[in-house]
Parts: sequence; C-alpha cells; structure tokens
Amino acid sequence: MSGHGGDVAAAARELGLPASEVLDFSASINPLGIPAGVLAAAQRGVAESVHYPEIAGDALAAALAAHHGLSAEHFLPGAGSTPLFYLLARVLRPRRVLLVEPAFSEYRRSLTLSGAVIDPFLLDPANDFALDSRQLLARLTPETDLVLLANPGNPSGAALPPALLRRLAAALRGRALLVVDEAFVDFAPDLSLMPGLSAGDNLLIFRSLTKFYAIPGLRVGYLAAQPELVARLAAAAEPWALSTPALNAGQACLAEADYRRRSLALIPAWRDELAAGLRRLGWQVHPSVANYLLARLPDGAQSSRELATRLRRQGILLRSCRDFVGLNESYLRLAVRTAAENQRLLAALAAAVTATEKEAPC
Ligand SMILES: Cc1ncc(COP(=O)(O)O)c(C=O)c1O
Repeated sequence: MSGHGGDVAAAARELGLPASEVLDFSASINPLGIPAGVLAAAQRGVAESVHYPEIAGDALAAALAAHHGLSAEHFLPGAGSTPLFYLLARVLRPRRVLLVEPAFSEYRRSLTLSGAVIDPFLLDPANDFALDSRQLLARLTPETDLVLLANPGNPSGAALPPALLRRLAAALRGRALLVVDEAFVDFAPDLSLMPGLSAGDNLLIFRSLTKFYAIPGLRVGYLAAQPELVARLAAAAEPWALSTPALNAGQACLAEADYRRRSLALIPAWRDELAAGLRRLGWQVHPSVANYLLARLPDGAQSSRELATRLRRQGILLRSCRDFVGLNESYLRLAVRTAAENQRLLAALAAAVTATEKEAPC
C-alpha cells in the first residue's frame, strides 16, 4: 500500500507511548478535535447499533441536500471519500485519465486497479502549483474521458480559482468528466464548486467530513453530481457502507456552524505563525489555504525522511513527500495544529537542524 500520514497507532506501539502522547503533523486533521455535538451523535449511534444502519444513508443524503441547497438525488454518502473513488473507477471504468499531480495516492491506485491509463499533469512548485487550463486541455487525448484534480491541492495547499474550474468543466463538456476532490475545501469554503453543481452535467465533486470535523476514524464522506450519474453509482454501491455512528456523526457535522466559524477564525492565524516559523528555519513554504503547509528544505540539508525519522523518535510525526509524483526528498507536508503544538514542532525542528549541523563532517 502506498504512503499515507496519520499512522498514530503504529507509532505509539513502536515508541511504547499512549496514542494521546503522539503529536501527529503527518495527517491534516482539524486541531480543534471532534465537535462535542458530533461526538454525542456518534455515541448515540453506538447505542442504536442493535439495528442495521440505513442501507444507503438516505437521511444523511437529505441533510446534505438541505445543507448545500440541492436535492437529495445529487448526493451519495460513503464511508469516507476513499471508497467512493474506488466506486467511481469501478463503475465508470475510464479509459484514460488526466491526473493533476502531485496528489493523493488513492486516485492513481483506484483508477489503475480499474484498468485506466493515467497521464500525469504536473503542477510546478516554482509556480506555486498554479493551474494553466490551456496547457491542461492541450494534454487531452481522444481517449481521455476523465480529468481529476483537488481543490485545495494536497499536498500543496494551493487554491484553484472556482471560475477557472467552471470554465474548464465547460471546455470538457461532451469529452470528459471533471472530478474535483474538495476534501479540504471546508477550510476555504469559497473555493467550492458545489453552488454551481446543478448547472454542469460533467462535474463530480468528492467531499470528506473527516478532515475538517476531525473524525477520520468514523469514516464519513460523500460525492455530489447530476442525479443520473449518482443513481448509476448508487446502483453499484455496497449496502450499509456507513455505520450508524458514522451516519449520525455526518448529520451532526452539518449543524456545527459555530465550530466552522471558530475553525475558520483560528486555523489561518495558526497557519501563518507556523509558516513564519518554518521560514525562520530557512525553509521555503508554499502559500496554502488549507490546514497544512508544504515546505521545501534548503539544498544540502538533511532529507525530509531523515528529519521525519529523527522526530518520530520524539513522538512527533511528519509526512515526507518523497513518494508524491512531482515532489522529492526535499519536501515535507506539515499539518497546522494549535499554536502551542506548532511551537513544540518548531522547537523540535530547530533542535534537529542544529544536531545535524554538529554531526556533519567539517
Ligand atoms: C486530498 C484527499 N482526498 C481524500 C482523502 C480521503 O479522505 P477520507 O477517505 O477520509 O474521506 C484524503 C485523505 O488523506 C486526501 O488527502
């Protein structure tokens, strides 16, 4: 299986620490933690688990419809967005996919397992991962039937303007489906294409509730598209994909307006502080609208993997980006955590840099 961050349980086992003492900067989860109302809803769901959950999560689809101002037929809930990538690949069986990279590894894995040929379209770090849609369109082949990108990008954190993506969808109409992964868009809600979804017949949006509402262990996500496409995917979906705690938690997330406001007030400030601290270490930090930062270590410094190994021994997890297509050993992705936790990270990084300099042969 390809690399992911967030293996807190394995790190805790290896280090002989309780999981609560591992400081995870490798998975980008809202540092405010599970909202109280979501936790209570999930706990109620455990008590209700003597019954089967709803087969297709209809109540959650209805709640999503009310939340986004669309009808329920536009939504298909899933146990996180990841199984929905696999469902899409399995049902549509795209021949050739133009995949905007660097990106989440499960896109490539799910599509390749379903027999698709992947054409990577690399965004340039030197250009802060901006997307030139004309260049992208020039890379389409007659067989390209799907274009996949994330907004905000992961691991870059870069924002793509929604107007550009709407023009791209229009240019692809009749040729290819535009799939936009909005797993982190709740951290930059103005970027979402959800408001214009009903106007476009070749747009599909993936959403995750796991990052913003800090519930990666519960597994709740969804996709949104035109009702005909959603019905086709729903017909091939497995029954009872979401547990009762997950379904309850998903609905409760949508009611958390205060949590959303608090997150959007606090996280950008913590992100700016962390970015400033990393720059003081001499690292290059790319602009990010998400709850993580992509940083490049200075030339000649230790590799991101060495640094991650060193900090792991102290119970601090980092995500080296060496396995992302288009990046290498020089890049690290760091979750934005609370101000105090970010300061602890910066102190550990500064000590690691100093220790390496002392160890280096003169
Ligand atoms: C960009 C992106 N999309 C989707 C996912 C999958 O999230 P989930 O399956 O938890 O909804 C991840 C997880 O790391 C991700 O980074």
